[in-house]
Amino acid sequence: MSGVNEIRSTFLDYFKKNGHEIVPSSPLVPRNDPTLMFTNAGMVQFKNVFTGLEQRPYKTATTAQKCVRAGGKHNDLDNVGYTARHHTFFEMLGNFSFGDYFKDRAIELAWNLITKEFGIDASRLLVTVYHTDDEAFNLWKKIAGLPDQRIIRIPTSDNFWAMGDTGPCGPCSEIFYDHGDHIWGGPPGSPEEDGDRFIEIWNLVFMQYEQVTKEERIDLPRPSIDTGMGLERIAALLQGQHDNYDIDLFKALIAASEEATGIKAEGDRRASHRVIADHLRSSAFLIADGVLPSNEGRGYVLRRIMRRAMRHAELLGAKEPLIYKLLPSLVNQMGRAYPELVRAEALISETLKLEETRFRKTLERGLSLLSDATSSLHKGDMLDGETAFKLYDTYGFPLDLTQDALRAREISVDLAGFTDAMERQKAEARAHWTGSGDKATETVWFELKEKHGATEFLGYDTESAEGVVQALVRDGASVPEAKSGDEVQVVVNQTPFYGESGGQMGDTGTIVAEGGKIVVSDTQKKGEGLFVHIGKVVEGAFKIGEPVTLIVDHARRSRLRSNHSATHLLHEALREVLGTHVAQKGSLVAPERLRFDVSHPKPMTAEELKTVEDMANEIVLQNAPVTTRLMSVDDAIAEGAMALFGEKYGDEVRVVSMGQGVHGPKAGKAYSIELCGGTHVNATGDIGLIRVLGESAVGAGVRRIEAVTGEAARDYLSEQDERVKAIAAMLKVQPGEVTQRVEALVEERRKLERELSDAKRKLAMGGGAGGSADSVREIAGVKFMGRAITGVDPKDLKGLADEGKSSLGSGVVALIGVAEDGKASAVVAVTDDLTARFSAVDLVRIASSALGGKGGGGRPDMAQAGGPDGSKASEALEAVAAAISG
Ligand code: ALA
Repeated sequence: MSGVNEIRSTFLDYFKKNGHEIVPSSPLVPRNDPTLMFTNAGMVQFKNVFTGLEQRPYKTATTAQKCVRAGGKHNDLDNVGYTARHHTFFEMLGNFSFGDYFKDRAIELAWNLITKEFGIDASRLLVTVYHTDDEAFNLWKKIAGLPDQRIIRIPTSDNFWAMGDTGPCGPCSEIFYDHGDHIWGGPPGSPEEDGDRFIEIWNLVFMQYEQVTKEERIDLPRPSIDTGMGLERIAALLQGQHDNYDIDLFKALIAASEEATGIKAEGDRRASHRVIADHLRSSAFLIADGVLPSNEGRGYVLRRIMRRAMRHAELLGAKEPLIYKLLPSLVNQMGRAYPELVRAEALISETLKLEETRFRKTLERGLSLLSDATSSLHKGDMLDGETAFKLYDTYGFPLDLTQDALRAREISVDLAGFTDAMERQKAEARAHWTGSGDKATETVWFELKEKHGATEFLGYDTESAEGVVQALVRDGASVPEAKSGDEVQVVVNQTPFYGESGGQMGDTGTIVAEGGKIVVSDTQKKGEGLFVHIGKVVEGAFKIGEPVTLIVDHARRSRLRSNHSATHLLHEALREVLGTHVAQKGSLVAPERLRFDVSHPKPMTAEELKTVEDMANEIVLQNAPVTTRLMSVDDAIAEGAMALFGEKYGDEVRVVSMGQGVHGPKAGKAYSIELCGGTHVNATGDIGLIRVLGESAVGAGVRRIEAVTGEAARDYLSEQDERVKAIAAMLKVQPGEVTQRVEALVEERRKLERELSDAKRKLAMGGGAGGSADSVREIAGVKFMGRAITGVDPKDLKGLADEGKSSLGSGVVALIGVAEDGKASAVVAVTDDLTARFSAVDLVRIASSALGGKGGGGRPDMAQAGGPDGSKASEALEAVAAAISG
């Protein structure tokens, strides 16, 4: 008897042997379909290959595809656990032909696999065909040798398979297995067909058409094949079981759940174990594919699945979080076939544990409130909708749990009252919103949010995805369409575009539809949860309800990722170098650079900056994976995560960790842990290089660090290098000798300046070559030195006057310095022996007035003044001489 893993590989190997390419399962969140919540069939990833939009290097393929059916059109959630074949998560085995073989080969391949490879007894098999499909009828007869009564014509849509309202479709043929007359049920098409005796094991779809709109159906470029076989069903059959939950894989999971709870999967406890086993699979695989629990969209469906399992864990008496403890069994069973499960194991485990911890609190509080609220109710009564709504709205206790908890007491809930209460609350919120001043301009976003719910952000995992246009906004008003040339703001149901937040700038890129193109220049978040793409229609037109493809500018986003991750590393390095008082005061993550403000009371030294840069680059070189987890704010802070300035956090936060600490208290631990909703590199090595450009002051106690990464850092360094080379060439030395050479030049220049200044002074005082003492004369027995000089700094005049006094021994010195702009400075000095007769202050005032100036000051032996008119320097000297002569 084969286990699930062998059956899966037998299937894939069989089709490989028959010329098919084994293609990995696509993620559970469809990348190429705007309307599908989760991948729910093997053909989803090939949708565009069937229609001819996309080319692949193979024409036939085979897959084991992860599928989830919960939420949206196919919703099996409420049945799971109570039936033999309902699952939220299952694997679909399939083979595909894209215009290669058609019905005959598809039937032949299927028949040989199940009767020969799997060895299923052919006499127990029967098939259905679409009632008009004579070709398929005859092929089954010819290839499988089935008698007419075991080829059943079905006239209903059961035998016409369509992916959804639109997309590839065609008649199909299903293979059934007869489990025997000990089980009640009849063949397909009979009144007893809903019984469990005849079980469908494989669906062969003869893809021939594309449903373009509800009314229009066209031929596919070439007839194709899509088949789907539920792995759990075929495993049950091959393992001699009638119930999917009795296959090896589920037995192992249920055994783990029995062991963890100490409760056997028997009687009315059996369903709880089955719920837990099934929901563990869907939760783990959804988390591995990037879905995290939330209150909207996919995250909400995940949360409901998780909480349903947790409720059953609680029913089994678990006192502590339980589901995460079963994860190793799942990884053991399925990790080899789906390595993403192994890669994401830590994230899945923590997410499960956190959700269960939180849910237990909600449950405890909710159940106690509920028991108070219903203490006076009896069997057959109804709980009022207002109370049920309050439990949901204020205490986070969902309606289905309220219903579930009251079911045993046979008390129902007034659903109409619940809806009324919800509507009333929305109306109040709306009134509050429109009534509050300038917020009124934002009303359009609020209304759109209320109508459509929050935009689902896919951009952590993908940079392109499909979405449906929910709104087009022009000049603040919602419009039904936008045409070429229009500036428009676009809201879609899901987007890979990051909306500006946490310092990281919004994404740019393009939105394309069959008939048009929008160039997106920015993405902003509005109305608490809407992502608004701001752009211009450059081609064609766009309508509400239209499917579009959204493509983020990859190069720009990569630079944003690098810069954002580098900001985290610099933040931690700054704390290490400057101290833990360093807190982020704001940041800008732009594509071309990053800017980061921190609290620090003084300028950083060049050495500090360099150490910070070195440390951050040390982590870059580790090329350590960057991991993201979802945690409660308290747990995150307890783990040492740094919260960002100015960000508002919900109950649960994304926590981004990177690198391994090397120094100090961080050694051996995660280097950087931050609460952050931004997009990051996959591994620190993707940053390439961090180059700090410098730091400056932006306010009291706040320093700004600017840096570049990757290509920009390399460009910056190349530019610097070019500069050094150019300087070296000018100096005629090797680049390595530039510093030495420049030092020498600076020293030489200093020496020359000194020499020049000495020479000027000597010249000024009449010394030096050809100098004479012709400026010295005797007036009434007093030696007088009077000189007008140019090219001497006015502040040197006093020094020169002192020199003049010493050379005279006894006398009066008057110096007029004339600057280039014609203004004059005058200094008069009197030797001590003469100060009783002459005051330098009086004399300098005389000089000053001759120079057109006023005043002057100093001491009797040395005084200084100025005047605007340097051309009167000789007159000024003569006026001083005249004063001395009396
Ligand atoms: N796409 C087909 C199905 O899901 C095979 O049943």
